[in-house]
Amino acid sequence: MQDAILVTGGAGFIGSNFVLGWIGTPGSSVINLDLLTYAGNPANLSSLEGDARYLLTRGDICDAELVGSLLRKHQPRAIVHFAAESHVDRSIASPEAFIRTNVQGTFVLLEQAKIYWSGLGEADRRAFRFLHVSTDEVYGSLGEHDAAFSETTAYAPNSPYAASKAASDHLARAYHHTWGLPVLTTNCSNNYGPFQFPEKLIPLMILNALEGRPLPVYGDGRNVRDWLFVEDHCAAIRAVLRDGRIGETYNIGGNSERANIEVVTMICDLLDEMRPREAAVPRRNLITFVKDRPGHDRRYAIDARKLSRELGWQPAEQFASGLRKTVGWYLDHFSWVESVRTGAYLEWIKQNYTKRVAL
Ligand code: NAD
Ligand code: TYD
Repeated sequence: MQDAILVTGGAGFIGSNFVLGWIGTPGSSVINLDLLTYAGNPANLSSLEGDARYLLTRGDICDAELVGSLLRKHQPRAIVHFAAESHVDRSIASPEAFIRTNVQGTFVLLEQAKIYWSGLGEADRRAFRFLHVSTDEVYGSLGEHDAAFSETTAYAPNSPYAASKAASDHLARAYHHTWGLPVLTTNCSNNYGPFQFPEKLIPLMILNALEGRPLPVYGDGRNVRDWLFVEDHCAAIRAVLRDGRIGETYNIGGNSERANIEVVTMICDLLDEMRPREAAVPRRNLITFVKDRPGHDRRYAIDARKLSRELGWQPAEQFASGLRKTVGWYLDHFSWVESVRTGAYLEWIKQNYTKRVAL
C-alpha cells in the first residue's frame, strides 16, 4: 500500500471517524488493526468496502507477532493508536481488560514500533511518527474554580480506566526519552458525534429519550465535562501528526464545559423539537437521578492553548450545533443503532443500571 498509516482501534467511535477523514486525503491508505470487541464495528467503515486504500485486519494489539508482521509488510509511515477499553463504568465493573489492552497492548505496540523504526532507512526513520491518543482523565478531577488541565498538570488518575491510560502515556513517553522513538501524545476531552457506542452519556440519553425510557443521571448531575466534537478531534490529530514537535504532548478540548444535567436537558429539548412525542409530554420528565458512580470525577476542563499557539488548531464546532448534528445522526441511522444493540450490550445495560436505584 502506498503512503500507508497503521491505525489501531479504527473500527471504534473516534477511530472510524478518523479513518473516514483520513481516506479523504488523496494518495493515503490505512491499515486498521482492530480486535472488534463489543465497541468495534466494521460497519462504521462499510463505505470503504472494496476500496484498495483500506485494509481491516481483525487482531489484538497485544499480539506482538501480528503487529510486527503488519509493520514489516505494509511499511507504514505512522501509527495512530486509538485501540483501548474506553468506558469508565466498565473499568469499575471489570478492570482487567483495561490493564491488558491499554497497558500491555500499548507496550507491545511501542516495542514493535521501536524494532520496525530502528530498521528503517534514514529518511523514513526521520519521517516516522507514533501518535498515542489519550485522555484528559489522566489529570484527575478539578474543583469548580480550578484552572483547566494543561500539558504540565501533574497526573492524578482516579478510575481504573484513567490509571491504565496514564500508564500507557508514561510508556509512550519512556520510549521517546530512552530510544528516541518519535512519539506524539494527545490528551483530549469527552468526544461526541456519529458512531459513538450507546453506553456513553450522549448516545445513551438520545436513545433512552427517543424511546421514552428513564434518563439515568448519576448523583446530582452537576459533574462537568468538556465536550469535543469528534471531527474537531480528528482534525487536531491530523495537525499534530503533520506538524507536532516530537516527544511533546498536546491537550485537545472543545471549549464547551457543561454540567451533565445541562447536556441531558438539551438532548430532551432537541428531541422534543425534532421528534415531538404524541402526548406532547416534555422528555425532561424522564430525567431520573440515580446512585452515583464510585469515585466520580467532578470536573474536567482543557487548556488547549499550546495546540492553538503552535499548530493553529481551534475547535470549529459549537456545542449546541454539534449536539444538534449528533441527535440528527442517531435519528437518521437507526439501523446502525439496532445493529450495535446486541445481547452483550443489553447485558451491560442490565448490569450497570438495575442496581442503580433512583435517588
Ligand atoms: P471505542 O471504545 O469506541 O473503540 C475502541 C476500539 O478499540 C474498538 O474498535 C475496539 O474493537 C478496539 N480494541 C479494543 N481492544 C483492542 C485490542 N486489544 N486490540 C485491537 N483493538 C482493540 O473508543 P473511542 O471512544 O473511539 O476511543 C478511542 C481512543 O480515544 C481510546 O484510546 C480512548 O482512551 C481515547 N479517548 C476517548 C475519548 C472519548 O470521549 N471517547 C476521550 C478521550 C480519549
Ligand atoms: P461518560 O460518557 O461515561 O464519559 P466519562 O465518564 O469518560 O466522562 O460519562 C460522561 C458523564 O456522564 C460522567 O460524568 C458520567 C455521567 N453519566 C451519567 O450521569 N449517566 C450515565 O448513564 C452515563 C453513562 C454517564
